[in-house]
Amino acid sequence: MGRERKTVRRMQDAEVHGKTVIVRVDYNVPIDNGVIQDDGRIRASLPTLGDLLDRGARVVVITHLGRPDGAVVESLRLDPVARRLAELLERPVRKLDDCVGPDVQQAVRAGKPGDVFLLENLRFHAEEEANDPAFSDALAKLGDLYVDDAFGTLHRAHASTVGIAQRRPAYAGLLVQQEIEVLSRVLHDPRRPYIAIVGGKKAADKLGALRDLVARADQILIGGGVAFTFLAASGVGVGGSTVDAKLFDDIRSIVRDAEERGTEIVLPQDVVAATSLAEDATTKVVPANGIPAGWSGFDIGPETVDSFSQHIARARTVVWAGPMGAFEWAPFAAGTRGVAAAVAVSPAYSVIGGGETGEAIARFGFLDRVSFVSTGGGACLAYLRGKVLPALDVLSD
Ligand code: 3PG
Repeated sequence: MGRERKTVRRMQDAEVHGKTVIVRVDYNVPIDNGVIQDDGRIRASLPTLGDLLDRGARVVVITHLGRPDGAVVESLRLDPVARRLAELLERPVRKLDDCVGPDVQQAVRAGKPGDVFLLENLRFHAEEEANDPAFSDALAKLGDLYVDDAFGTLHRAHASTVGIAQRRPAYAGLLVQQEIEVLSRVLHDPRRPYIAIVGGKKAADKLGALRDLVARADQILIGGGVAFTFLAASGVGVGGSTVDAKLFDDIRSIVRDAEERGTEIVLPQDVVAATSLAEDATTKVVPANGIPAGWSGFDIGPETVDSFSQHIARARTVVWAGPMGAFEWAPFAAGTRGVAAAVAVSPAYSVIGGGETGEAIARFGFLDRVSFVSTGGGACLAYLRGKVLPALDVLSD
């Protein structure tokens, strides 16, 4: 509740010369066979790291990668990330093979101002996600100060985000400050009409956000897998499309709430259907309420793209979280591409949630044509729902 009244402590106000600064970043980047597919999150941390190094700090960078659930997973080691970080920083980065313990402590202690260490994946230890006190102590021991620049994990109360911040003087990094500045304008004072575009594979992942956005946005355009559960909840047959029937009651209550508040929920009127999700799938465009048995919807159809585009053209604020279809496959990319194009030409202030939506915007070449691409998917949406982000709260007075 108090977030509005609190002020985030800024790293610019910390004296860092000669100190060891632990910097939590979100280098949870897509890696395929050891090759980083998108280094955006690494680049986004450079201003913070550069500033600390310029001011004479020794920097210990910590991050998670993926969800190894407390076990060492070889493919989730951070060596490729360390190499990329060294290239981008144009200075050596010393990668250590653990993130806590005497060897790590000794290595860091032997470092000099200007040295950069990248510690191993925090989530190789189950204690990280448990926000374990002893693990938080062990991390905190590695430095004098703590800077959180991991916007994408501000909604996680983990040892490396909350525990450590309670044990050292703790500040927000430049990326966190920038994200919060932009998103707080959308949260507190959006220009209207405010349209939220919500998609993605699973309705369950977006339901909480939809419940809260109904009270904040003027219109909600729903696509992606989420739309089929909404259509089915309203009694429409959706063929073989994936539907989560457990959510029907919740969805009906969201729809009722939207009606009472005058928030319009817009569902697809046509969809691209196929019998399988494949690059060479045979597809047909059918009405959303006329998907044949044995066929499933994998994208919104062209009429829906037109109708969504018209809504978007009238908006003054657009928030987009979740692709409109299975855009990774060529036959099901048109819906997401069409909506991305509409957002790109719209005069609205447009905020794109990170993760898959950011990836889609980049793939279709619209990165420079939207107002802001957040580096966080879950954290961005949680913030725009009005949730307190625990790892931000702990950086605030
Ligand atoms: C993200 O990619 O959204 C963040 O790194 C958080 O990852 P998580 O959902 O596995 O906590």
